[in-house]
Amino acid sequence: METKTAITVQDGVGDNDVRSFFSAEWSAIDPEPWTDRKCIITAKRDGQLIGAARCSVSAGVAHLGELMVTKKERNNGIGTDLLAAFEQWAVAHGAHILTLDTQHYGPAQRFYERHGWRVGHVMDNHYLHKEYAGMVKEPG
Ligand SMILES: CC(C)(COP(=O)(O)OP(=O)(O)OC[C@H]1O[C@@H](n2cnc3c(N)ncnc32)[C@H](O)[C@@H]1OP(=O)(O)O)[C@@H](O)C(=O)NCCC(=O)NCCS
Repeated sequence: METKTAITVQDGVGDNDVRSFFSAEWSAIDPEPWTDRKCIITAKRDGQLIGAARCSVSAGVAHLGELMVTKKERNNGIGTDLLAAFEQWAVAHGAHILTLDTQHYGPAQRFYERHGWRVGHVMDNHYLHKEYAGMVKEPG
């Protein structure tokens, strides 16, 4: 008798079984090793957190998930230092391209452009229904 397939939705990123399943199935399709790494970069003064960046790199594509400098510390070069640390970390872990998403024509877009990033694509109706730019930079 045919048994019914159970489809289950779980919060989170899955357990070891799920990770091993994906890993084995993907390696049959794409034998090149797929590497994943994440990091948090922080800027502190007197033990106080004043800026942070959340970063990841997967199979050569590095993504800057969040970059934030506390309001009263902005325009003092801390954002530039955090961005440079992200770019160095990404290259050290094999990134051939750097990516991030920011509000299209928002103030941060100009900041990234000054640091050699360009708009790769535009996403309508994106986070909170706003228009976002997918920005990219080829390191080196
Ligand atoms: C974008 C941000 C990280 C830059 O950090 P910073 O320490 O102020 O940056 P630096 O001092 O190295 O450089 C100053 C640049 O940031 C720009 N800036 C200042 N306030 C900003 C703000 N609220 N949002 C975006 N950019 C800002 C300045 O205009 C300046 O740009 P310029 O180089 O084109 O003149 C910081 O402004 C911030 O945390 N903004 C709010 C969060 C944000 O927008 N993050 C990026 C989301 S993708």
